[in-house]
Amino acid sequence: PRSIYLSRHGESQFNVEGKIGGDSLLSPRGMQYADALPALITDNIGDAPLTVWTSTLRRTIQTGSKLPYPKLTWKSLDELDAGVCDGMTYEEIEQAYPDDFANRDDDKFNYRYRGGESYRDVVLRLEPVIMELERQENIFIIGHQAIIRCLYAYFHNLPQADLPYIKIPLHTVLKLTPKAYGCDEERFPLPI
Ligand code: F6P
Repeated sequence: PRSIYLSRHGESQFNVEGKIGGDSLLSPRGMQYADALPALITDNIGDAPLTVWTSTLRRTIQTGSKLPYPKLTWKSLDELDAGVCDGMTYEEIEQAYPDDFANRDDDKFNYRYRGGESYRDVVLRLEPVIMELERQENIFIIGHQAIIRCLYAYFHNLPQADLPYIKIPLHTVLKLTPKAYGCDEERFPLPI
């Protein structure tokens, strides 16, 4: 049976600084994850074909750069656009936009950043990616926190309201194997 592998990019410089969005490069730990991924994936998949999909952002491309498989970048896999809050920490956002911060907490799925996106927007823009994913064989998606949450919720049929709170750990590959109803899941954390 075919599988869909999902991972966030390795730890980025912005992750270390607690800043959201941006287009930063990987931290040293994130680069260790990129270095460790090829052995994990090739051990798991053997000789079966695989294609790696990344976003257009540097941290996902860098995470996949060592993998010996064909690659495709998708703009639709870019992280949720935080608009005017891009590049800020959550503390800075709470200071600068207290009402927005509270509104996001009230309805995280529907909250749209000023000049940016909501989770609902992201679910819509992922539709073509999901359509293509349904037609493909083994795919490894290296994405971002909000993006992996949406894809994970789609394959496990999780409710929209819970989706923005799904825990997607760093430095872990999730392997989803679709079956008649739902999917099987395995997790491969790398101790980095
Ligand atoms: O902090 C990493 C990050 O991917 C940000 O770029 C993004 O805004 C955020 O996570 C999404 O998570 P949440 O919706 O919980 O803020």
